[in-house]
Amino acid sequence: MKLAELIKERRSIRKCNSRPVEQELVVELLSSAARLQPSIDTGSWRVVYAGTPEANKRLADYMLAQMSQSKLGKLIPGKLLDVFKKRFTDIPAHVIVMSSVGSDRLTNDRNYSAVCGIMQSFQLLGWERGLGMLWDTESMIQHEGFFQGIGLHEDERFVGILHLGYFDKTPRSRKRTPAEQKWTVYQGQVN
Ligand SMILES: Cc1cc2nc3c(=O)[nH]c(=O)nc-3n(C[C@H](O)[C@H](O)[C@H](O)COP(=O)(O)O)c2cc1C
Repeated sequence: MKLAELIKERRSIRKCNSRPVEQELVVELLSSAARLQPSIDTGSWRVVYAGTPEANKRLADYMLAQMSQSKLGKLIPGKLLDVFKKRFTDIPAHVIVMSSVGSDRLTNDRNYSAVCGIMQSFQLLGWERGLGMLWDTESMIQHEGFFQGIGLHEDERFVGILHLGYFDKTPRSRKRTPAEQKWTVYQGQVN
């Protein structure tokens, strides 16, 4: 597939089937994605992979811990929480991505954005092989209990989780803002 087509056709996959995801494929795609981001130091990012039913269940527990313990969460019927939990547990594999906190803001931002670049390339390379993903940064999962559960170090920043799975149906594209609307030709001053 041509790169321009791949970029246009890739979709976030929110509903995957139960076909297992091969860990070897994930490693291969991540290595290829990282190769496209030569500016990043090897020590500036790392990944935690969850791909067994036990690990996925534990991860889902950590993801939903704050929600289930919050005042609002306590009003949510147990059955509904179980439905949420099952949704995450049924996803075949998860790639949790962390970047290193730099000594200053610029280094920090560079590490973070370079890792985002790797994640997007990884999504595209996965799509080329029929593997779908959802990039998850929901505020609901971003809490201390979750960070501890995934083993985030003090000098690390959580970038996101990619939920991975094969899929039966490709979702429709969401509306995009044309790049022209984000475009200003600089003429020496900005209005
Ligand atoms: C940095 C980043 C964070 C995202 N976080 C979430 C998220 O927390 N929840 C979610 O449902 N989708 C998340 N997404 C996926 C986008 O919402 C998705 O790309 C968008 O819906 C467009 O759909 P498409 O990927 O199929 O084109 C995230 C994407 C990016 C790039």
